[in-house]
Amino acid sequence: MRILVIGSGGREHALSWAISKSPKCKKLYCAPGNGGISQVAECVNIAAEDIDSLVKFTLANNIDFVVIGPETPLVLGLTDRLEDVGVKVFGPSAKAAMIEASKGLMKDFCTKFNIPTAEYSRFDECDAAKEYIRGRGAPIVIKADGLAAGKGVVICRSQNEAYATIDHMMKEGQFGAAGTTVVIEEFMEGEEASFFALTDGKNALPLVSAQDHKAAFDGDQGPNTGGMGAYTPTTIIDTRLEKEVMKKIIKPTIEGLAAENMPYKGLLYAGLMITSNGPKLIEYNCRFGDPECQALMVRLKSDALDLLLASVDGCIATIKPRWSTNSALTVVMAAKGYPGIYEKGSVIKGLEKLEKSDDINIFHAGTSYKNGEYIAEGGRVLSITATAPTLEEAQEKAYKAISKIDWPQGFYRKDIGWRAISR
Ligand code: AMP
Ligand code: GLY
Repeated sequence: MRILVIGSGGREHALSWAISKSPKCKKLYCAPGNGGISQVAECVNIAAEDIDSLVKFTLANNIDFVVIGPETPLVLGLTDRLEDVGVKVFGPSAKAAMIEASKGLMKDFCTKFNIPTAEYSRFDECDAAKEYIRGRGAPIVIKADGLAAGKGVVICRSQNEAYATIDHMMKEGQFGAAGTTVVIEEFMEGEEASFFALTDGKNALPLVSAQDHKAAFDGDQGPNTGGMGAYTPTTIIDTRLEKEVMKKIIKPTIEGLAAENMPYKGLLYAGLMITSNGPKLIEYNCRFGDPECQALMVRLKSDALDLLLASVDGCIATIKPRWSTNSALTVVMAAKGYPGIYEKGSVIKGLEKLEKSDDINIFHAGTSYKNGEYIAEGGRVLSITATAPTLEEAQEKAYKAISKIDWPQGFYRKDIGWRAISR
């Protein structure tokens, strides 16, 4: 098969790496890709949001299967456009991707189909939003309705912080159009977990459990990021809880979306809060988590392409992927300053020493490869992923590998996996 992966993050490097190992993969492209991906796929200089050019490239190069990594091309309708011209695509339609793109629609959907989530209300008017906050008190959570690159959620510890957040989003246009409508919801106490289900629109298959660390600094402190590290499996989701999540959250969602005439195919990522009243949905994403995907892919023993194709071909009910019993842990190295302002263009050294190790995978996000050197080009730059029989050993190996990387302009958290390891 001739395959095109869309995206340029660590997630897309892990997907490209896993796909490239399949005997069915005859040619692999990635648009736009990055320095690391260029070692396993031919990178094509087309942005993930440039839908017209991606469709043209797919047709001109006889691509059989397109795998879409990030949410933006999904929300922009790349799946629909490619399916219209007869190409197989991994990832939901624009309609179904609304489950991530509009927090308000997602919450209304949960109410309609009785899916457990935080209590909420939606507002497009500032004074009414503030009135609601006055009635509910703090802590309280305020979310910009639309996509805001993972930054549109504010956990307000006081009522004054909540009023100020409403002003930033609704009056001052902090998130542009994405913030003109807000969702205000109950603050849920508990531990978070990432739940991934592969679906063909009718049946869903849970993948192994994972957790990520969203805060920038050690001890889960500091600003929210896309994710500074992740690990799998996690003890917080046992078999009983997995069944409960499938029954109360994933299955009603798949059935509900089909009933609403927007069947969901692809990867459904449920961000969960495990509360004292059971699992509740924080949010849906219409794609794999990053960096959770990096940790998942190194544990997958079956052919990744078979897994992705099962979602497109409608045979999720018949596949049984094999997973390594090893644990995997991934630590993100980011440019100093991320998730705020950071510099680009520094050289990363020492990676070649690690490339030959079987139990270490370095997945690249913001890098380019120029004249034999890797250059840092983004916020999150590398995911150092280690596998070992236990999570503790995987953690030790990941940090040992990092100590060999010479990149003074980068930083990373020193405590990825702490919660699971200290349990
Ligand atoms: P989201 O973009 O909706 O995943 O939110 C980002 C992060 O904010 C989540 O990973 C949680 O840590 C936190 N969060 C979102 N909603 C809530 C909530 N209702 N209660 C507590 N924490 C929340
Ligand atoms: N790791 C969180 C996300 O991908 O949204």
